[in-house]
Amino acid sequence: MTELDLDVHRSTADITDALRADVRAGLTAERKWLPPKWFYDARGSELFEEITALPEYYPTRSEREVLAARSAEIAEVTGAHTLVELGSGSSEKTRLLLDGLTEHGTLEAFVPLDVSESALAEAAEAISADYPKLEVRGVVGDFTEHLGLLPGGQPRLVVFLGGTIGNFLPADRAQFLRSVREVVDEGEWLLLGTDLVKDRETLERAYDDSAGVTADFNRNVLRVINERLGADFDPEAFDHVSHWDEEQEWVEMRLRAREAHTVRIPGAGLEVGFAAGEYIRTEISAKFRPEKVEAELAAAGFAVEQWWTDSAKRFGVTLARSVRG
Ligand code: AVJ
Repeated sequence: MTELDLDVHRSTADITDALRADVRAGLTAERKWLPPKWFYDARGSELFEEITALPEYYPTRSEREVLAARSAEIAEVTGAHTLVELGSGSSEKTRLLLDGLTEHGTLEAFVPLDVSESALAEAAEAISADYPKLEVRGVVGDFTEHLGLLPGGQPRLVVFLGGTIGNFLPADRAQFLRSVREVVDEGEWLLLGTDLVKDRETLERAYDDSAGVTADFNRNVLRVINERLGADFDPEAFDHVSHWDEEQEWVEMRLRAREAHTVRIPGAGLEVGFAAGEYIRTEISAKFRPEKVEAELAAAGFAVEQWWTDSAKRFGVTLARSVRG
């Protein structure tokens, strides 16, 4: 039996309340939208794991290449005692960092934080089994709300991988980076993974694979609303769309109604009408240029220490140090 410590900051009722509020806001808007965090129930988390192995979805492999090459250097530069991972999911790539940091000899604790209790429990269990000397303290929560509660000895290295920072709209991204800066002390570290701007075809295909896994993942948000709010969405009544917005520099995922129809969502007290071709924006995944990452970090109170990319220059990993705010 492993020593597993999970702090659960959200009850089932909290989660349903938060979903209801998001559904009311997003599906009554002039242009309909839903926040991407609702993809990740147990099935959605599994579908995302499948996505990471798809030939079209390069970000996971590109980021893994960087972490494999640089984890020793990251351990050397940071000398971290605690590794905090935001939106940790399966924590599979994190093992590369854990290896670098445990070899370096400074690491004492690992704190993964994720909205998905199932994904977190599984990851925390597997990591405590494989790193028996490490104190593993999982936190189930939303990193936009529960950042202030992060435990662990200093200096801490907060990692936010996979390009998930791209799911925020620019103003929310700035606020998120500032809130990370608020919970760390001067001299602590942030390691940030950002997908990079590239050609339309590569980007759109990364979010619209030929096996249809991403389409299934996208439609999963409708199944989550059906289950939690008793809605009668027919996921197959919506087409999956992946669209690169060149001006905003983000990929947008959409669910587009094939025909005009009405959906009942009793748990949110709503009936939502869709015109034929009308869509719900379900995710943005912003892509970056290195100068922009540096400028946004600086605005939040972080100075870039090192920046790396994979050999194909598809994905960036930035190590930044928190400076006086
Ligand atoms: C987990 C947020 C990094 O934006 O690329 C994958 C999610 N969405 N395919 C991303 C996702 C569609 C992914 N992140």
